[in-house]
Amino acid sequence: MNTKESYAVVTGASQGLGKAFAENLAEKKINLILISLANQNLRELSLQISETYDVKVHYYEVDLSIHENVLKLTDLLNVSFDIHILINNAGLGGTGKFVDASSNYINNILQVNVMATSVITHQLLPNLLKQPKAYILNVSSMAAFSPIGFKTVYPASKSFIHSFSIGLREELKDTNVSVSVVNPGAMKTNLNVSKRIEKQGFLGRLTLLDPNKVANASVDKLFKKDSVILVNPISWMIMNILPVWIKLPLITNAVKREMNL
Ligand SMILES: NC(=O)c1ccc[n+]([C@@H]2O[C@H](COP(=O)([O-])OP(=O)(O)OC[C@H]3O[C@@H](n4cnc5c(N)ncnc54)[C@H](OP(=O)(O)O)[C@@H]3O)[C@@H](O)[C@H]2O)c1
Repeated sequence: MNTKESYAVVTGASQGLGKAFAENLAEKKINLILISLANQNLRELSLQISETYDVKVHYYEVDLSIHENVLKLTDLLNVSFDIHILINNAGLGGTGKFVDASSNYINNILQVNVMATSVITHQLLPNLLKQPKAYILNVSSMAAFSPIGFKTVYPASKSFIHSFSIGLREELKDTNVSVSVVNPGAMKTNLNVSKRIEKQGFLGRLTLLDPNKVANASVDKLFKKDSVILVNPISWMIMNILPVWIKLPLITNAVKREMNL
């Protein structure tokens, strides 16, 4: 299969922010390749987007926490499609005591957030470099700007994504590929996340965002080749002004409320 037209790849596209990215790009008449885990109605979503916006949509149900899957998927994409946009959105985190977390839980966060983001980017980069203009958007988080107790691995993984994106952007600055990173605050994207944010009280609500607005603002700024995309600059300013000895206990206490500790 060689589709000739160019495509945007969106990971974690079945729901939440990824779905909002997919719909925003389709509205702009950009063909899509959507990726998520199996049994998340990705087929139905792909058909619906394709019919609503009259664009081509392919979908792949792949567990991105497995390195070999990422390699197989990207090999297939490289032989089948021209890709000019890559949105590394798939990501996960959670709240709990580090000591109580299973090693699988920790590994899953690291594999999806860190390994999949880096390896998908690495494997698809030669494809992106062949296009007249290409864009990479990596989804980090406000959590990248502070360590957080009881989340521990998640903010660290989002700091990785932030640093990785800015480093790669510098490396690719004389090429056709522009790299951006977006650092959203809390979004009510799914039932679990919504419940957690509600329990955080004031601090959770302060950064609360609508995923559709985040996707719209991010895609606009992606095409303007912004480096760091800040969808809520006020919370970003607070995160940057506050020294770590203030923000670390402040945010950790808010997170503790999620756990009723
Ligand atoms: N929600 C927030 O408050 C918030 C704040 C800042 C940043 N973010 C970041 O924004 C991004 C999207 O978050 P969201 O809230 O929209 O999350 P979500 O609703 O839970 O969606 C996450 C997406 O990632 C996919 N995913 C998870 N594990 C995967 C795996 N092993 N293989 C393939 N796909 C996998 C999920 O696919 P399935 O549907 O198949 O499980 C889903 O499509 C994430 O990177 C997250 O860290 C979220």
